Amino acid sequence: MGARVVDVDIQDDTGHSLCVALGPAVASYVHYDVTNESDVKLVVDTAISFHEKLDIMFNNAGVVDDSSSGFLDGEKSAFEKVVAINVLGAYLGTKHAAHVMALARAGSIVTTASTATVMGGLASPAYTCSKHAEVGLMRCAAAELGPFRVRANCVSPHAVARKALGITDEEELERIVEATANLKGTRLKAQDLAEAVLYLGSDESRNQRSAGSLCLV
Ligand SMILES: NC(=O)c1ccc[n+]([C@@H]2O[C@H](COP(=O)([O-])OP(=O)(O)OC[C@H]3O[C@@H](n4cnc5c(N)ncnc54)[C@H](O)[C@@H]3O)[C@@H](O)[C@H]2O)c1
Repeated sequence: MGARVVDVDIQDDTGHSLCVALGPAVASYVHYDVTNESDVKLVVDTAISFHEKLDIMFNNAGVVDDSSSGFLDGEKSAFEKVVAINVLGAYLGTKHAAHVMALARAGSIVTTASTATVMGGLASPAYTCSKHAEVGLMRCAAAELGPFRVRANCVSPHAVARKALGITDEEELERIVEATANLKGTRLKAQDLAEAVLYLGSDESRNQRSAGSLCLV
């Protein structure tokens, strides 16, 4: 596909290492808090000034709550944090991408949702409703931006094993994740998610109905 990437995060070390791994001709890093509108505007402006256009906006930043987060033990502040990053972040990313993509009459917006968009009880109320809201945002974007030939979709993965869950033994982590998946005999990898996003971002999916949610279970 040959994409050039503006990688954004609040974790500068991770962002810089990814750019080093991809190479300076391919990737650049910008510190970016998805809840801060001026950061979001800056990153879209940076993409345009480096590459003259923005083909794909990938809204991937997302957080889960700490362990106490249900209706019986949850805190308002924890709920607000998850909703701010997951929902407001996806809204602002979509909004600022939409401005340049609508002018260009081209573009694809992809947001990472979750299988929590179709089931309750997989995660906390804050996370679950934030992921439902992301699908709602992509539906609205598809309806408003479709006339400008801009597409909007979600990918909805089930659990992808990652050390951030707090378990460091990779094999154990994968077993736990696989036990909760419907499809047995295979383990969902970050690479599977990357390929789904690449498909939705690229021309290969130009006839894909916008506002779909590609479920990876
Ligand atoms: N890992 C899974 O099993 C899984 C399953 C379904 C959906 N998802 C979704 O996939 C996406 C990525 O999750 P992940 O598992 O790779 O998590 P991760 O923690 O590895 O990555 C999330 C990234 O978001 C960044 N981030 C957090 N707050 C931010 C902010 N305010 N501004 C900018 N960046 C911020 C973090 O620094 C981190 O790099 C999330 O939207 C998550 O909800 C993950």
